[in-house]
Amino acid sequence: MTCSRRRFLAAGASALAAMPVSKAGAVPAAAGAAVDASAEPTAPRGRPMFRYNNGRFRILQFTDLHNSYSTKKEYAKAEKTLDRIRLLLEQEKPDLAVITGDIIVNSGGKTPVGCELLEGGVAEGWARFTKPFEEAQVPFVTTFGNHDHDREKSVSAKEQLEMIRRSPMSRVYNADDSLPGAGNCSIPILGSDGTDAVRLWFIDSLSYPKRRELSSCAWIDYSQIQWYRRESANIETLAGRKVPGLMFFHIPVLEFNQMRDRSQTFGHYGEDADSSELNSGLFTSLIERGDVLGIFTGHDHNNDSLLQYKGIVMAYGRKTGYGGYGPHDQGGRLIELVEGSDGYRTCIVTPGRTDYPWYWRARPRE
Ligand SMILES: [Fe+2]
Repeated sequence: MTCSRRRFLAAGASALAAMPVSKAGAVPAAAGAAVDASAEPTAPRGRPMFRYNNGRFRILQFTDLHNSYSTKKEYAKAEKTLDRIRLLLEQEKPDLAVITGDIIVNSGGKTPVGCELLEGGVAEGWARFTKPFEEAQVPFVTTFGNHDHDREKSVSAKEQLEMIRRSPMSRVYNADDSLPGAGNCSIPILGSDGTDAVRLWFIDSLSYPKRRELSSCAWIDYSQIQWYRRESANIETLAGRKVPGLMFFHIPVLEFNQMRDRSQTFGHYGEDADSSELNSGLFTSLIERGDVLGIFTGHDHNNDSLLQYKGIVMAYGRKTGYGGYGPHDQGGRLIELVEGSDGYRTCIVTPGRTDYPWYWRARPRE
């Protein structure tokens, strides 16, 4: 969802055809039993890692759930969204789910935390969110969206991260506690030889700048970019080569606006990217480091588009939630990596459907 500005393009004008390549007593009856939100953290405390599964690794990106538990109507939508996630997890059987932000929202800022109907408050909200992944035994990583930060006065991002990490299927962690936000981290996918084959990067794209006159949305902080650059260089030194990577965060960077009016833009581009108005240089750093092959974001619910720009794929996920605006059927973006291959496949998935299949073969730049 937008920070404050939302400029819609004419509906359909940029949608392109396929191209190649509680309060306890207030809980609605449909809510079911309360979810235990008090469990101790059980997710791995060390640095997590993934492995190829018979030569493949499937990532299912969900984004912009906009779950809220402030009204009965919102509560019902949140339950419906979690059921949609259950369905897609069953359908796609991913090795990892990545949820790129705006997961629990606060009724458009009208309520403090967005979980007023839950006896366990925001901790129960997060516990409800993690249930589908636990039921399906699918590990997941979250990146926070601007609306997940909206309750900072009540609960900080780092406190929320610890709530998420109570789930045994959570793999997100803070690589460096000094960085802004929470959940900035990278996780390797190991090849069958045990080496670092692919690196997954997760960034908190934050929410709003202190000086709102500068931009409606925050920019990724220079310290986060420095962290990426430092880690990327260390990984290259250890591996003796650049390790190809994919990066996930919520608010698109300014370069996503290159999708506008380009015939190569693939998928729905129904609104301009609501990026920060200032460019803090993450994209340029990715170009300079030459290892990240794709950036995957959310935030703009009318978009599920993809564009290869300056050698890097910029892609939106498909909005997954029933809350908030957005015209498209609630779904996800599947990304499939094949061990030993230098490319990956991606497409939009909804119940019984696959749309906008796209395949890229490329090598990391030297
Ligand atoms: Fe959103």
